[in-house]
Amino acid sequence: MKNGYPHFMMKEIHEQPEAMKNTILPRISKGLPDFSDDKIPDEIFKDCNQIHIVACGTAMHTGMVARALMEPILRIPVTVTIASEFRYEQPLIDEHTLVLVISQSGETIDTLAALRLAHEYGSKTLAIVNVKGSTIARESDYVLYTHAGPEIAVASTKAYSVQLAALYMIGCRMALVRGKFTEKQAMDFLSDLLDVIPAMETMIAQEQMIKGVVSHIIQSLDAFFIGRGLDYAFSLEGALKLKEISYIHAEAYAAGELKHGTIALISDQVPVIAIATQEHVFSKTISNIREVKARGAFVILLTKEGSVVDDNLADIRIRIPDVDDRFTVFPIAVVLQLIAYYASLGKNLDVDQPRNLAKSVTVE
Ligand code: M6R
Repeated sequence: MKNGYPHFMMKEIHEQPEAMKNTILPRISKGLPDFSDDKIPDEIFKDCNQIHIVACGTAMHTGMVARALMEPILRIPVTVTIASEFRYEQPLIDEHTLVLVISQSGETIDTLAALRLAHEYGSKTLAIVNVKGSTIARESDYVLYTHAGPEIAVASTKAYSVQLAALYMIGCRMALVRGKFTEKQAMDFLSDLLDVIPAMETMIAQEQMIKGVVSHIIQSLDAFFIGRGLDYAFSLEGALKLKEISYIHAEAYAAGELKHGTIALISDQVPVIAIATQEHVFSKTISNIREVKARGAFVILLTKEGSVVDDNLADIRIRIPDVDDRFTVFPIAVVLQLIAYYASLGKNLDVDQPRNLAKSVTVE
């Protein structure tokens, strides 16, 4: 079952490039995103004036990435709400809202309740789901299945990547049908999306290096993940992954917000995993890294290969391939998953079945 891997999580990390291909390739026609086989009509992308994303946990974090990706391209509001909050709110959605519901299992009770509420408000719903025939898939207006295959480890890995792949394709199709992308721009965008697959393979191949890096944080009680813009959205998932399976308390923080209180927690006992892959805020994030370094933090910096930084900025630097800024989440996700995996392993914990957690949360 584990195909020779010690844990399902490691197997699933390794399966990501294949899962990405399985999710993306059947939906490319003449170089453009095409959902006709999924029976998703372009009207739902054209007719909406806002997008509302609802999901839980890791799936919700893909929504945070999608928001940061899509709003600048589509120029319509993209809101992300945790499903367990959404279901008890009076959301500002209507028949002109496209509600994207994201769930690996398709059975998460809060996400299902959010889907039903969206229907009560008359919104069109499109679910991104991994498990065929699941309740959310059956009840939503339209479904875009991710093709990750079964995900067994409680900590979600390959489902995160393919949910993102699906969201990137939706963003691309929407931009095309709404006149925000030319065909050439949409083709280039998809080509950039395909380029992340070898970039993910490159990072998977560096697992032993990442194992070595993790030895520096394994004794810590707390850790911070910082970044700006898309990098902040990636940080959320890095922190969740580390908490979930290594039981190290981890917080993701928008780097520029640290000095409004939280920097008081930074000391030489608190490692900081800093993500700086976004050119337009790169120098700003670097300044924030200097601030935490000056307070003694052990800094692990994640940047693109080609980024230029001072040698003494970070204690350790992990370089990802130079993919376009909008796509760095894919190789970064592999690094964050491996950090969590080796932290859990190094602490002799149950990697695949962390305490207090179930794979599918079907009760409130
Ligand atoms: O099956 P779902 O995608 O709806 O599950 C949502 C969350 O429970 C799930 O992503 C959870 O946060 C993961 N265990 C995190 O690794």
